[in-house]
Amino acid sequence: MIDFGVGILGTGKYLPDRILTNSDLEKMVDTSDEWIVRRTGMKKRHLLDDNMPSYMMGAEAARLAIEDAGLAPGDIDLIIVSTEVPDYLSPSMACLIQNSINAENAVAFDVNAACSGFVYAVTIARQFIQTGYYRHVLVVANEGLSRVVDWESRNTCVLFGDAAGAVVLGRVSREYGIKETYLASFGNLGHNLTIPCCYISEEDRQKRSPGKERTLWQDGSEVFAFAVRAMAESIKTVIDKAGITIEDVDLIIPHQANLRIINGAAKRLGIDDEKLSVILHETGNISSASVPVALDIENKNRRLKNGDTVVLVAFGGGLTCGSVVLTWGK
Ligand code: COA
Repeated sequence: MIDFGVGILGTGKYLPDRILTNSDLEKMVDTSDEWIVRRTGMKKRHLLDDNMPSYMMGAEAARLAIEDAGLAPGDIDLIIVSTEVPDYLSPSMACLIQNSINAENAVAFDVNAACSGFVYAVTIARQFIQTGYYRHVLVVANEGLSRVVDWESRNTCVLFGDAAGAVVLGRVSREYGIKETYLASFGNLGHNLTIPCCYISEEDRQKRSPGKERTLWQDGSEVFAFAVRAMAESIKTVIDKAGITIEDVDLIIPHQANLRIINGAAKRLGIDDEKLSVILHETGNISSASVPVALDIENKNRRLKNGDTVVLVAFGGGLTCGSVVLTWGK
């Protein structure tokens, strides 16, 4: 008989100091602050310095999350890093972070579910804790999207930024913690958002400018339509599984890809604006780091109260989507 819940013990984030505003972008491509704000809600994003490895963001977010949990790096049994832009294919980002924070007792591996990766990693972490296999799991979402953006393409370069977010998961009192999770993958739609790496097809080349073969390409309107549908369905499915209604939910922390996507999904489900956590005006789309960075901001701003029902929801490349419903508290 399991007599404990699995919940979040601590949160952390890291946003690079360098800031790129909409007016900076006006000088780089044919765009305007007015267009970006109206079509996306974004105002600025943080960017890694060229000489800084991306995993340093995750290591800093991890240190803060471990401290917030009242633990030491040696207490971590497992590190799962969600990333779609690793510094190396090997070693994994998880091993780089393990070494950087001296978590010498931890097993470490990466998952890639693009922007849904944090929700996937939390779902994996929960299984390990629930079975008693591991006690403390560090989940880091580490995303340096600026490294794969075509900075001459206005269709994509206005959208993305760099950041890392982290949480430590562990045992909590039975009334708190994760109540339900939901994951889904649609490989048949994967061609709508691609970042080639070790292989580049003729189709990949045709979609990109010469010399930009390893950059992010997407069919914006196809992804938009998927995103609104996937976000609404993911929220609905996970609350149905948990046996609660939308009225029972205190806060929704969605992936931050476009304000119109968040509002579109919320409208479908009749969710009030004040129940939505929105940070994209400050960060742009930071892929799987969106949810843990927003969660850390809400946690540190004390917007989350013990007993609050919180939904985490994301969608992204793959295509993928997923959601988690949890009761905040230890
Ligand atoms: N500045 C000014 N104009 C721009 C622009 C920019 N940065 N980017 C595109 N445009 C132009 C287009 O070229 C197009 O012009 P045209 O009609 O002359 O061809 C026009 O604006 C409308 O383009 P459209 O693609 O219809 O815009 P949109 O309102 O759908 O917004 C996205 C584009 C990309 C912001 C939107 O489709 C989106 O957010 N999609 C989802 C992407 C996403 O979430 N990806 C990540 C998944 S995790």
